[in-house]
Amino acid sequence: MNKESALVEIRSESAEQTFAVGLAIGRRAADGDVFALSGELGAGKTCFTGGLARGLGVGEEYAITSPTFTLLNEYPGRCRFFHFDVYRLNQTGELDDLGYDEYVSGKGVAAIEWAEKIADALPPETVWITMLYVHENERTIRISGPRDRVRTLVNDLKRED
Ligand SMILES: Nc1ncnc2c1ncn2[C@@H]1O[C@H](COP(=O)(O)OP(=O)(O)OP(=O)(O)O)[C@@H](O)[C@H]1O
Ligand SMILES: [Mg+2]
Repeated sequence: MNKESALVEIRSESAEQTFAVGLAIGRRAADGDVFALSGELGAGKTCFTGGLARGLGVGEEYAITSPTFTLLNEYPGRCRFFHFDVYRLNQTGELDDLGYDEYVSGKGVAAIEWAEKIADALPPETVWITMLYVHENERTIRISGPRDRVRTLVNDLKRED
């Protein structure tokens, strides 16, 4: 990590807390943000993404579930929100078929589960959300990326929940 990057760690003790972290970050997110979500099965990537979506103004009528078979769900909100889950992606060529470049080029906010599989295709300004399983209900949420962006997104986060 170079001096232009920042890393913040947040401890979550419940799914609700992870959702609240996503919500707070979603409220501050803006067109062009790309969130790369990483962490084992059940780590809480979709849970976080649900909060992120609400923070972006995606209505309660939309349930946020992993787009496992479609690879991509799109939701309307304050910004357009693109939720990818690339777990089942076979070759990065499939991303082109989806029109992936369009989605990470500033016309909305993207969250990509299993983003480590497509690391080479991520923009340099990507914010990584790494979820680490600690215990049944406990996770560490590690947020890293460009210093200014991370500061804006997580600034005073603790005081909001
Ligand atoms: N602190 C926590 N944060 C997030 N989820 C938690 C926490 N504690 C328990 N859980 C539970 O862990 C599960 C997380 O599931 P989720 O679908 O968000 O994981 P995921 O990382 O998206 O998995 P997958 O790789 O299968 O897509 C949920 O059942 C949730 O209730
Ligand atoms: Mg998931």
